[in-house]
Amino acid sequence: MIKAVRGTRDLLPPETALWNFVESAVRDVFRAYNFEEIRTPIFEDTQLFARGVGEETDIVSKEMYTWEDRGRAASEKGHMLTLRPENTAGVVRAYIEHKLWDRGLNKLYYIGPQFRRERPQKGRYRQFYQIGAEVIGPASAGSESPARDAEILEMLATLLDRLGIAGWNLELNSVGCPNDRVAFNEALRKALEPVVGKMCVDCQRRAVTNPLRVFDCKVPEDQPIIEKLPRISQFLDEPCRTHFVAVQEILKAVGVSFTLNDRLVRGLDYYTRTAFEFTHGALGAQNAILGGGRYDGLSEALGGPAAPGIGFAIGEDRLVMSLQESASAEAVLHKPDMYIAPLGLGMNAEAARLARELRRHDLVVELGDESFRLKKSFELATKVGAKYILIVGENEVKADAFALKDLATGEQVSVARGDLARRIQGER
Ligand code: HAM
Repeated sequence: MIKAVRGTRDLLPPETALWNFVESAVRDVFRAYNFEEIRTPIFEDTQLFARGVGEETDIVSKEMYTWEDRGRAASEKGHMLTLRPENTAGVVRAYIEHKLWDRGLNKLYYIGPQFRRERPQKGRYRQFYQIGAEVIGPASAGSESPARDAEILEMLATLLDRLGIAGWNLELNSVGCPNDRVAFNEALRKALEPVVGKMCVDCQRRAVTNPLRVFDCKVPEDQPIIEKLPRISQFLDEPCRTHFVAVQEILKAVGVSFTLNDRLVRGLDYYTRTAFEFTHGALGAQNAILGGGRYDGLSEALGGPAAPGIGFAIGEDRLVMSLQESASAEAVLHKPDMYIAPLGLGMNAEAARLARELRRHDLVVELGDESFRLKKSFELATKVGAKYILIVGENEVKADAFALKDLATGEQVSVARGDLARRIQGER
């Protein structure tokens, strides 16, 4: 038997109703902040991620699904393509390709699958879904302002509250700008020199190529060493410090609570200044519902104009998981209002007519078949979870009134055709 590939999964009903509920709340909330949707390709040039996300990150060095393109001209042989492991690089590529700066400030969001070859576990998949948003544009349009950072974070708090997800925690840090990074990397290298021999091979390599990435290390034995390393917060220059303080002040003014965490450096190289994660206790080891931050140099790194930006991506799989723990999930799972049971030969057509009328009134109707005995119709109606069963037999059609039975209480009444929709809507 062929099964779904390890790390991928089928999303089945009724859980898919939760996914749709989340996505429609997202679209409503993002709309109020003037975000518009962008859809970028699922695969891109490998170079986009190597240059955008960073060669030394776990994502690029270990986790990408990459292959050589076939059927290209010999001169282009060796052209590599990659299933997108994240969507920010794709959005910034599109920003540059379509000269989106002509519109001033761009506020773009996306919903879609991403691919990383990580070790699958609860909340971690090889095909997973992100809901993300990016604000990008020339500094003259306000893209660099701490007001943008705070606006994004407040929007996320609003979304989580609206979904009824309680108990989230916003962890906030500033990872500084390239100026700060030079001094910080220098200090890190120095601090690592005497101890790096005792660390894992990845850290030994990182210490030389990109010392900041040492903070991504998950090896337990290395943690006491990492704990003692210098923190970026000690190296912020004046503009970065002021920017970070301003973000915090707006957050306090709008009532979004946060925790400062100067160990949070995020696993992608493009970040500058504000970096953040929202965590949720119910998720277990993979407790980050979402992550994001500023990437003021990304457009230039990809060959575009200066275009400061900030954004985030929510792990939709994890968001739905934390929603399942909350009370609002129950209300979202729709069951049919009614199961229509045609009783006897020739009744399929009458039942279809009736179903058509009722569905036009937005009722959720499941339709049976005239070949079913009444007992079987009852069993099927119960199985699909219908609230009512409606019997459509010859006598009912003649009388233009139908037997309507409440499957929970067993109460049965005869209802005239014209009164059916109103009656059931009233009961909803
Ligand atoms: P990221 O932290 O790599 O950031 O991913 C964001 C979120 O995606 C994570 O917090 C997590 O919820 C979810 N996620 C990541 N990997 C997996 C996985 N294997 N299985 C399930 N969920 C996962 C980014 O991707 C950045 N592009 C975010 C961003 C946008 N920064 C600025 N703009």
